[in-house]
Amino acid sequence: MTNNDASRLLAVVNCRQLVTLSGAARPRTGADMRELAIIENGALLVRDGRIERTGKYDEIKSLITPDYEIEDAGGGVVMPGFVDAHAHPVFAGTRVDEYEQRAGGATYQEIRAAGGGILSTVGRTRAASEDELLIAAKRYANWFLRGGTTTIEAKSGYGLTIEDELKMLRVIRRLNDETALRYVPTFLGAHDVPPEYENHAAAYVALIVDEMLPRVLAENLAEYADAFCEDKVFTVEQTRRVLLAARRHNLKLRLHADQLTLGGGACLAAELRATTADHLEHTDADGIEAMRRAGVQPVLLPASVYALGLSRYPAARRMIDAGLAVVLATDFNPGSSPVPSMPMVLSLASTQMKMTCAEAVTACTVNAAYSLNRGHLLGSLEAGKFADFVIHDCRDYREIAYFVGIESTHTVFVRGQCVFAATTTGGESHDRTLSHAT
Ligand code: NIG
Ligand code: FE
Repeated sequence: MTNNDASRLLAVVNCRQLVTLSGAARPRTGADMRELAIIENGALLVRDGRIERTGKYDEIKSLITPDYEIEDAGGGVVMPGFVDAHAHPVFAGTRVDEYEQRAGGATYQEIRAAGGGILSTVGRTRAASEDELLIAAKRYANWFLRGGTTTIEAKSGYGLTIEDELKMLRVIRRLNDETALRYVPTFLGAHDVPPEYENHAAAYVALIVDEMLPRVLAENLAEYADAFCEDKVFTVEQTRRVLLAARRHNLKLRLHADQLTLGGGACLAAELRATTADHLEHTDADGIEAMRRAGVQPVLLPASVYALGLSRYPAARRMIDAGLAVVLATDFNPGSSPVPSMPMVLSLASTQMKMTCAEAVTACTVNAAYSLNRGHLLGSLEAGKFADFVIHDCRDYREIAYFVGIESTHTVFVRGQCVFAATTTGGESHDRTLSHAT
């Protein structure tokens, strides 16, 4: 696609399955999570970067005047771009050495206690310039797009000084301007206690509350605040202090909760009316009930369980059955989840957490969009929403997760513009006609 005119008209035709997820304008719960509103042999009309109309091709073909550019989906599956509601996509270096140490039996907590973990990425990220971080993150932006993800949440949290946290958030702002991926910024100053505050977590919390948050807000660099509530990181009381201050600054709240131990994070998220509580591998029935009553959305991150070589996945079935509007995300980061692939997350959701394919798709599209305060703009293919959609090279949307380790993504559109198109391994342009023409 070469036409860069945002005002153009586009008709996407020959969609064997148009997975619209149209439905009530709210996060989906219970049986609604299993209803994807799929249109067989569908077509999608786009005007000015927004969805104009969806329907069966035969019913809307008369609307496709010669002014429309035609995109032939080749009998493939067309669905909304994935919305990844929990990611740490700005960092310097990797932690591939720790990955190998875990293969040798070391745990995430042992590596952290020995001076590795989050703080090793903090050291590298502090040493990197804004431009160096930007270059690294642009590479990851391409990975997200090529996996069919068009929006991600992006956390700071590897700076842990005022200037380094601001540096990360400015990088996120530039990524939003300079890449096709959409970013929703979250301030995660309370990701860990930095080395210069070792054994002085309370003083570091005071720095976050008194100095970091006002600066972040003065530059309007974040929409959400987050904190890592975990044994040997931040206590419930310290986390409450950070998040209450963030809320006073009108930030909405997310929370790393009950990841490695049951520490009361889910209940705290409920108490604070946080938008989300994330991870929840150890959350018990009380935590689930507290989230239900408070309307907190659980964000489940099975790729971090997988990549840490653990076996305790969050209780997704119990959460769905309790009526929670479950979200799935990658948790992409250099330590616990070097996984930018939402298809991989979908696979883990079904194989390890027993979510149906439809529940999993709902969790990382429309429910994820609501968890980022963008349910009115993203996450389903409905008139008026942004035309962020993906043509997948398959005949049935369930194949996106079923075939593992290979991307089904064929073409990715953001606001009606093609931002990624798969190529063959020979380096030639992909034949734009898929093999599924009906
Ligand atoms: O969500 N748990 C805290 N934060 C990340 C890990 C970050 C890292 O290891 O660098 C997580 O798993
Ligand atoms: Fe995380």
